[in-house]
Amino acid sequence: MLDKVTDISDLQRIARRRVPRMFYDYADSGAWTESTYRDNSDAFGRIKLRQRVAVDIGDRSIATQMVGQEISMPVALAPVGMTGMQHADGEIAAARAAEKFGVPFTLSTMSICSIEAVAAATEKPFWFQLYVMRDRDYIEALIERARVAGCSALVLTLDLQILAQRHKDVKNGLSAPPKPTLINLIDLAFKPRWCLGMLGTANRTFGNIVGHAKGVSNMTSLSEWTHAQFDPTLNWDSIDWIRERWDGPLILKGINDVEDARIAAGKGADALIVSNHGGRQLDGAAASIDMLGPIVDAVGDQIEVHFDSGIRSGQDILKAVALGAKSTYIGRAFVYGLGAAGEAGVTKALELLRKELDLTMALCGETDIRNVGRHNLLPPGDFGQPI
Ligand code: FNR
Repeated sequence: MLDKVTDISDLQRIARRRVPRMFYDYADSGAWTESTYRDNSDAFGRIKLRQRVAVDIGDRSIATQMVGQEISMPVALAPVGMTGMQHADGEIAAARAAEKFGVPFTLSTMSICSIEAVAAATEKPFWFQLYVMRDRDYIEALIERARVAGCSALVLTLDLQILAQRHKDVKNGLSAPPKPTLINLIDLAFKPRWCLGMLGTANRTFGNIVGHAKGVSNMTSLSEWTHAQFDPTLNWDSIDWIRERWDGPLILKGINDVEDARIAAGKGADALIVSNHGGRQLDGAAASIDMLGPIVDAVGDQIEVHFDSGIRSGQDILKAVALGAKSTYIGRAFVYGLGAAGEAGVTKALELLRKELDLTMALCGETDIRNVGRHNLLPPGDFGQPI
């Protein structure tokens, strides 16, 4: 089945068939009107690459580094909540695929498999993403758990102090595990592979929370806890509090504004991620790829700049790197692979992106991803001069 898959949209189509509706919709949706969600991808289409010919492109490398770590291509797996609902043990499957590929996997606070379960099933260190909750004792313990598990970077998400709305999640009554309503049961009857996988695992709800956070023992208390716990008072000073408790590489996620980038660059972090959360938070925000250039211009000489939001191809990755991102993250691009075929599907997604990136770089006349820059792009509307 995977040998007929030629791009990420093929994986998306298979995932739509195999993953229960509420979890497929959870991934393939954005906040409110979804205008930013759509624009994240559309904006890539407006950026034009410079085609160069007759350059010796026989020997090429797309290997690079993120926060000092060697990686086989400028891609990491973004933190994605409830990955373990796209496929049984989804976080473990994705982490294993990333590990074999030589790219970082980032485990979400809102994962199904716990930090400890992923650590036990993998060999190399992975990264941990932190949501700051009101219960700081819980956060302190979570950071400690990440350290004990050997996590080699902490990704602190700043753009979800408060939750935007995705209409589909409300309509579908999103929960992990799904509630046994008639509509859900009918849907699950058409997803036998998914059900079988789930029957074979004990990882069916939020592994980092249940049994760890005070007062969370069942689904009702979990849902109440989650909604009450995202901390709307999170502010730039909170980063100092985190810094005191985590001395490894720290990455600030969710910067989509030049002024915020300037402040972030002064906080002693190792990298920032230009991101609008894949269009899942502020509907009407600029596409992140449109903000990348201005942010790199403002702070690129002070802090490593990473990028996510809207990447669906190797061409997109090349454009982000050309605009100054040291590396990128993929969210839905790997989630669709996971939903389509578990670990093999994530591996397929990474293979597709690697091939597209390598060939696109070559067609731009470049042989080393570390030399890709703005000279590989054409300025908007003026195709005479490189940027
Ligand atoms: C996310 N994202 C996210 N980010 C984060 O910091 N913690 C999280 O738990 C989640 N959860 C989550 C769930 C789902 C289903 C998606 C699609 C995304 C955001 C994610 O890390 C990343 O910023 C976006 O996915 C990037 O956009 P693309 O690549 O999906 O277009």
